Amino acid sequence: MMIYSEGEKAKNHKPVIECPEEVKAGEEFELRVYVSGHPNKTEHSIRWIEVYFEEEGRDFNPIMLSRSAFSEFVSPDVTLKVKLERSGKIVALAYCNKHGLWEGEKEVKVV
Ligand SMILES: [Fe+2]
Repeated sequence: MMIYSEGEKAKNHKPVIECPEEVKAGEEFELRVYVSGHPNKTEHSIRWIEVYFEEEGRDFNPIMLSRSAFSEFVSPDVTLKVKLERSGKIVALAYCNKHGLWEGEKEVKVV
């Protein structure tokens, strides 16, 4: 299966992940994931975003953090309250009905 992260269409398809680069173990922080600048029409929109966490040292990854589906009335933009115990990588997937599946990722260090 194709999952894109680069190229001409990345700027308005690749999910952007905003969160601190370093967090404290077990302490809640805000994780925002969004796609900016994409059309939001019935015939062409970001239909869903899924957010995962690949935890360092875990036998089986990823851990699914959230799944959000959007109509054309809602911007593809979600904010989650997250607590982590170990460092790892946030991975977000965004699906455009015309341009496929896009991936963004960000490392988070737990101290
Ligand atoms: Fe698109």
